[in-house]
Amino acid sequence: MSESKANRIVKRHSGAKISYFSDKVVKHQGVDQTWLEVKKTEEAILISKKTCLFRVPRVYSYNLEEGSIIFERLIGMLPIYKFMRNPCVSKAVAVRLGEILAAIHEHVPQHWKMHSGSYSREYGDIPPVFTHGDFAINNIFYHPKTDQIAIIDWSPAPWLTDRAQIDTHYADLCVFLFSLFVRSPLRPWEIRYPESVAQAMIRTYNAKTSTAVNSVNLKRYCEKVLSETREPRKSLRSTLRMLMLRRSMARMKRFIGVPNLLE
Ligand SMILES: Nc1ncnc2c1ncn2[C@@H]1O[C@H](COP(=O)(O)OP(=O)(O)O)[C@@H](O)[C@H]1O
Ligand SMILES: [Mg+2]
Repeated sequence: MSESKANRIVKRHSGAKISYFSDKVVKHQGVDQTWLEVKKTEEAILISKKTCLFRVPRVYSYNLEEGSIIFERLIGMLPIYKFMRNPCVSKAVAVRLGEILAAIHEHVPQHWKMHSGSYSREYGDIPPVFTHGDFAINNIFYHPKTDQIAIIDWSPAPWLTDRAQIDTHYADLCVFLFSLFVRSPLRPWEIRYPESVAQAMIRTYNAKTSTAVNSVNLKRYCEKVLSETREPRKSLRSTLRMLMLRRSMARMKRFIGVPNLLE
């Protein structure tokens, strides 16, 4: 790919490599992931245009052989959790995210056919929907001046790879909840009250969608997501991460175990 020199290149845990240019970013990853991300981003742009609830970075071009996508760079936007220290702001954000996720799940993809994966079959009668695939808080960006929300990274999370084009709606919700509760040992965590954010988000989601979640299934799916979380490599950093992860998981388990959570 003929490119001017990147001003920063970051290798991610996911295996993707991000190169930053002044007005674009280039994402390199596996070929299958690239294809899926392009296709899903095209669908996401349709949802964004139809609902005006969020924006999606434009895809300028892509190269399937190289496994690369050139995206529009989000200028002036920051990860939304940086604005979520204030409980009133974070609750308002949660309500918007509930509405956004409901719109994503209501979308019927036009350009490719959904097929039922093993994941949805495991859960019998819960119908699959179009999912984001990694609806974690760090994939959500915010522009404080324009009040716009952007959703990035429509490539499926590595541990959902074989089934993340579609899934049950619980998958995105569980990933989102997990991302609210999980804390890094090496930086302060901006979301001080994940429980109230989670509750406001799910309640709005349930009010806006035809596929409302119930607490029994939510608990079951979240426990599955938690049990699939990979053990990190053994180093001081990863041991600290694991300890923090266990504490975060315990807090999330307490939250999803609360009776009448969604009533
Ligand atoms: N369009 C974009 N504009 C600005 N920054 C971006 C853009 N796309 C990705 N990034 C930055 O790169 C990071 C990783 O990109 P992402 O697509 O989420 O990859 P991964 O699959 O590794 O999580 C993001 O958290 C964000 O900081
Ligand atoms: Mg990401």
